[in-house]
Amino acid sequence: MHKRILITGAAGFLGSHLCDRFIREGYEVVGMDNLITGRYENIEHLFPLKEFSFYNHDVTKFIHVPGHLDYILHFASPASPIDYLKIPIQTLKVSSLGTHNALGLARVKKARILVASTSEVYGDPTVHPQTEAYWGNVNPIGPRGVYDEAKRFQEAITMAYHRFHELETRIVRIFNTYGPKMRLNDGRVLPAFIGQALRGEDLTVFGDGSQTRSFCYVDDLIEGIYRLLMSDYAEPVNIGNPSEISIAEFAEEIIKLTGTNQKVIYQPLPVDDPMQRQPDITKAREILGWEPKIDRAEGLKRTYAYFTSLSNDELYNKDHNNFEKYIIR
Ligand SMILES: NC(=O)c1ccc[n+]([C@@H]2O[C@H](COP(=O)([O-])OP(=O)(O)OC[C@H]3O[C@@H](n4cnc5c(N)ncnc54)[C@H](O)[C@@H]3O)[C@@H](O)[C@H]2O)c1
Repeated sequence: MHKRILITGAAGFLGSHLCDRFIREGYEVVGMDNLITGRYENIEHLFPLKEFSFYNHDVTKFIHVPGHLDYILHFASPASPIDYLKIPIQTLKVSSLGTHNALGLARVKKARILVASTSEVYGDPTVHPQTEAYWGNVNPIGPRGVYDEAKRFQEAITMAYHRFHELETRIVRIFNTYGPKMRLNDGRVLPAFIGQALRGEDLTVFGDGSQTRSFCYVDDLIEGIYRLLMSDYAEPVNIGNPSEISIAEFAEEIIKLTGTNQKVIYQPLPVDDPMQRQPDITKAREILGWEPKIDRAEGLKRTYAYFTSLSNDELYNKDHNNFEKYIIR
């Protein structure tokens, strides 16, 4: 019998790459998504496969999946600030109620579950680079609190299920990741810059551009998640690329990559935007034997190739999500 895995958030950026990876590994993959920020296009190539099935379902409601499950990857959640600022309640619910439902399902199925946490649990960090032992500096009532605190709750309830119910749990703290299948207009800095360059617009930097980010190419991240799932380590593990760059320098890299003649323009920094982000990946190196292999030059080349393959419709479509359909006021 094939090993069987449920992936929530399957139609999203990371979820769709995870579906591909586990299909390649010979698994039967059950995808689940309500498409609030995801796209069918990300997984439509999998629909003809008998090893793939899909449920259009909101994981904040009771989750029922017939048959056995060996693993669950809980990746459903908006992940970009532009998304979670527009759908704050859904964001809180998916990592709290949604995680509770996913953990309950894992218990019933006796499945191992890995939940997608984030570097945002560190908030605007006062420790640099961030190790897993750092407890973070999060503003619970700021606009970004809906994402950060929901993810912190997610970690807390996951550890509680591990300790109290002895459930096999894994927690990955994902740092900024990029690659093909990101939405061009999701507000994250990399697709924002590339989209602006492709449309012939100036590149917008928020603040003075001295804030830093560390970008991990998606294939590296997926490998780290795979290794963590297969490990026996229950505490959180950072997965990200420690190579750090300022946003101003990054804008220059994108200008060079795309050959655009546009310039960089500066706008005020949004509330609670973290100034510095860099993962300490000692744990991932030691426990998983993992480190990133794809440098930014190569990763950007592959990502740019993907974005240039998009239609003009997608390039100019700023109404990029399905929020109105899903928001219950
Ligand atoms: N991409 C990153 O750099 C990054 C960094 C840190 C953490 N993460 C985490 O990884 C996960 C995936 O992020 P992503 O970048 O692929 O985002 P994404 O928005 O592309 O994918 C999220 C998917 O979850 C689905 N979803 C949201 N709410 C749902 C619900 N209630 N029921 C069912 N499906 C729902 C969306 O429709 C979407 O397909 C998220 O949990 C995110 O917090 C991502």
